[in-house]
Amino acid sequence: MNMIGQPLDRTDGVLKVTGGAKYAAEFPAAQLAHAVLVTSTIARGRVAAIDTTRADAMPGVLLVMTSRNAPRLPNGGEPEVSPPAQRRLSLLQTDEIRYDNEPVALVVADTLERAIDAADRLRITYAPESPTLDFASAKAHGHPPASMIGGKPDTERGNIEHGFSTGSVRVNAVYTTPMEHHNPMEPHAVMASWDGPRLTLYDTTQGVGNARKAVATFLGIKPEDVHIVSPFVGGGFGCKGSVWSQVVLCAMAARQVGRPVRLALTRPQMFGPVGGRPYTEQHLVLSARKDGTLTALRHDTFSNTSTFEDWTETSGVVTRMLYEVPNLATSHRLVPLNVGTPTFMRAPGETTGSFALESAMDELAVALKMDPVALRLKNYAEIDPEERKPWSSKQLRECYRLGAERFGWSKRTAAPRSMRAGNTLIGMGMATATYPARRSEASAFARILPDGNAVVASGTQDLGTGTYTVMTQVAADALGFPLDRVSFALGDSSLPNAPVSGGSQSVASVAPAVRQAAIAARERLIATACADAGSPLHGMSTDDVTVVDGWVVARRDASRRDPAAAVIARAGGQPIEGRATAKRGEEAQRYAFHSFGAVFVEAHVDAALGTIRVPRVVGVYDVGKLLNEKTGKSQLMGGIVWGIGAALEEASELDVRYGRFVNANLAEYHVPVNADIGTIDVSVLNVPDPQFNALGARGIGEIGITGVPAAIANAVYHATGVRVRNLPITLDKVLEGGGIV
Ligand code: MOS
Repeated sequence: MNMIGQPLDRTDGVLKVTGGAKYAAEFPAAQLAHAVLVTSTIARGRVAAIDTTRADAMPGVLLVMTSRNAPRLPNGGEPEVSPPAQRRLSLLQTDEIRYDNEPVALVVADTLERAIDAADRLRITYAPESPTLDFASAKAHGHPPASMIGGKPDTERGNIEHGFSTGSVRVNAVYTTPMEHHNPMEPHAVMASWDGPRLTLYDTTQGVGNARKAVATFLGIKPEDVHIVSPFVGGGFGCKGSVWSQVVLCAMAARQVGRPVRLALTRPQMFGPVGGRPYTEQHLVLSARKDGTLTALRHDTFSNTSTFEDWTETSGVVTRMLYEVPNLATSHRLVPLNVGTPTFMRAPGETTGSFALESAMDELAVALKMDPVALRLKNYAEIDPEERKPWSSKQLRECYRLGAERFGWSKRTAAPRSMRAGNTLIGMGMATATYPARRSEASAFARILPDGNAVVASGTQDLGTGTYTVMTQVAADALGFPLDRVSFALGDSSLPNAPVSGGSQSVASVAPAVRQAAIAARERLIATACADAGSPLHGMSTDDVTVVDGWVVARRDASRRDPAAAVIARAGGQPIEGRATAKRGEEAQRYAFHSFGAVFVEAHVDAALGTIRVPRVVGVYDVGKLLNEKTGKSQLMGGIVWGIGAALEEASELDVRYGRFVNANLAEYHVPVNADIGTIDVSVLNVPDPQFNALGARGIGEIGITGVPAAIANAVYHATGVRVRNLPITLDKVLEGGGIV
């Protein structure tokens, strides 16, 4: 009866492949109107005038909303919000422009085609000002963030100068990572529909509860009057973790025209108004004794933000916890540019930070003539080196061991350019992966229905990750019901509250609540049967009774059994319900909670052309208990794929004259396709972490991407002798470094 961990197919798989799963832009509505967002073509200045006469005259046009006529919002559209969960938006309350691609108008018509046509006919006159776009020159004005997720912006432990003086080998290098933009298959989309004072939003969001609060705040209405519906999300990766301008603008327009309004962003509109990963410049200094013992480590990060909101890429946070180094300093500085505010992007901080740290560790291993795995083992952190707390569970040593074995690390010869097959330079590199294990308060209910089926629900989200499936498994297991008699509901703000599906915390937070609610319902079902004179279980102690396959049954006599539907029918036909709220207890103070992994990569570099391929990646992960071997490994694999993209392909190219991303489309913004990906071998140690939650399961959404860019950079170095410290690693950088001779 143990369904936990089983590699079950997605419960929503058939709906998805048959088109039955409805995404935000697919919900029908009577009298539906269509909106098109119009965005700025300058990066800084003002809208001097918008001539709407040609658009207004178009047949079917219902509204041209600009800063001239947009409804006034509380506090000028800038109510008390709490970034980064709630952002500073562009809600047509002023004519100021702060970045290219910033919303300046919304056109609504009875058909999408007419809305697009009318939007094209707007004549916008700008009063441009000179934007700040050059990171290098703006860096001088970098400022520390007022606050930051993941700890203080600046930290120091031990005595960093003393630490440097006691080491004999030093690495001192600067690493950069480019701006990137989220490109989930489904761009942002929303449909807004008003019924008197009540607003329903069909949105694509990573957090229905957060969206409800944010939208209510911006519009100045009661949260109870906002209903968010988001049953399917076509990928989020962080960009759907905040409410962005188009959601509020769509609600404003729908109220204005008195009809439901649908608004879907175009692919180019994903590059600016809805976040992205900022540019980072990371300076690392490592020093070690001859035996590899780290004596000091310094990690200083500069990253860009917008001119109107602080958002910090927390690249230094991973350095604080990964190795046992006594003397350590980290800092974060922000460089405001005239671009849209960056946001969470898959493992924000750890992706960029682990690239720099794990590249620098490889450079140190080279300098020490030491095996990269041995160097990491030498500095293994037995306890959290910053907080000095024990780990709740840490199996990183086994990740290194098993990863090296599965990869065949022992076949690697140490010298760069020492492995070659014909015209192909072969490189082998590795890196450590890590991501914090987060958990927030979550609630759920489990309802056993008169027909003997069960409905279990929580206001969480499924971003395509498998939440529906995993929660169904957890619920069925705790209820004692077969899987096909349990359905799980999510993606609706009227359901019990759950946290944003970000920070790899949905399974960790929601599964315990689902489990507790299901156990409560099962216990009520058992108690009802035992108290029922008509039940074969009548008079038994509830301790001697359980539920198996949907039957209430005596533990020691399987012939004494009663179907759930019969128990409910005799008890009056009302559903039997359990509710639960689960959160962390005092263990949260006693332990440090992290997931770990080891990534091994083979890179092939063409000796004549410098082209780079990654035929093979081995990843071994310590993420606690995996609740579904299929969806879980698939998610880790997806993280590795993105790591390959981040290493070799992805970059948003900013035109520093105009502030526009010149490759704002999927033809020129390169993400990996199947032909770019070779063998990916994912293993999970499956050691439960009982200190973390009752299921022993930590999150897996983000750790997969971490470490991969560094492992690839390290493999490219090993293949070519060229150290590329600036992502993405493209062939020109290998050529420039002298890798092709
Ligand atoms: Mo994740 S970047 O917290 O959605």
